[in-house]
Amino acid sequence: MNLVLLGPPGAGKGTQAERLVEKYGLVQISTGDMFRAALAQKTPMGLEAKKYMDSGALVPDQVVEGLVAERLSADDLRSGFILDGFPRNTHQADALDRILSDDGRRLDLVLNIVVDPELLVERLTGRRVCRDCGYNYHVSFNPPAEENTCVACGGEIYQRDDDNVATVRERLRVYEEQTEPVIDYYRPTGRLVDIDGSASPDEVFVDIVSAFERAGTGTR
Ligand code: AP5
Ligand code: MG
Ligand code: ZN
Repeated sequence: MNLVLLGPPGAGKGTQAERLVEKYGLVQISTGDMFRAALAQKTPMGLEAKKYMDSGALVPDQVVEGLVAERLSADDLRSGFILDGFPRNTHQADALDRILSDDGRRLDLVLNIVVDPELLVERLTGRRVCRDCGYNYHVSFNPPAEENTCVACGGEIYQRDDDNVATVRERLRVYEEQTEPVIDYYRPTGRLVDIDGSASPDEVFVDIVSAFERAGTGTR
């Protein structure tokens, strides 16, 4: 199964992708994580992307589309993939269609995670991430047992540079302006399913599994 996880910043794309990876052996492709990894390595692409990420803007299409095309050509995607954070505008959605149809592949399911904007601000400004394994914590909703240490791997926990109130507000604005149209892009395909992302992560995952199973058997 090939999936797209759509949803505003903080909707829980990363949180739910992690669960899907564990349950179904799919490969998560998060463009945001790829840029942060490139930045940690100080590659030219990572340093260039940081300028956009820090202000809450989108990295130029040409850069992201090239990165995704290369990642989708790898041979570890036999069980399927989860695109997390891509496509983020209709240009990228067109590019994805072309990349997939060029080798006879297609998307099976687009999950659109819907959450109230005020809740998103709280989730994002309270998020903390493990530098080593990428696990997502939250200061109130999912605090680590020890303040700065990851329970899963012992790594250091940090706050993303773009998780401050001002940048979060700009990311939400950019989402509304550029990414929301992607919902209308996929709706007519009949492969888009809305998911209420405001419940607990476990409850949201139950809905996602049910949409996933229905798509797998061709019933919706
Ligand atoms: P990216 O890294 O993709 O960030 P984002 O889309 O802003 O999404 P987030 O990762 O912030 O949120 P999420 O939905 O994964 O939520 P999470 O599970 O962590 O992109 C960053 C930047 O990179 C962009 O701004 C852009 O500059 C650039 N970029 C990336 N892709 C690009 C593209 N295609 N084109 C151009 N530029 C691109 O959850 C958030 C928090 O809430 C966590 O603390 C979590 O523990 C908590 N939480 C999650 N679910 C729940 C729940 N159900 N209940 C309570 N708490 C919850
Ligand atoms: Mg994420
Ligand atoms: Zn960790």
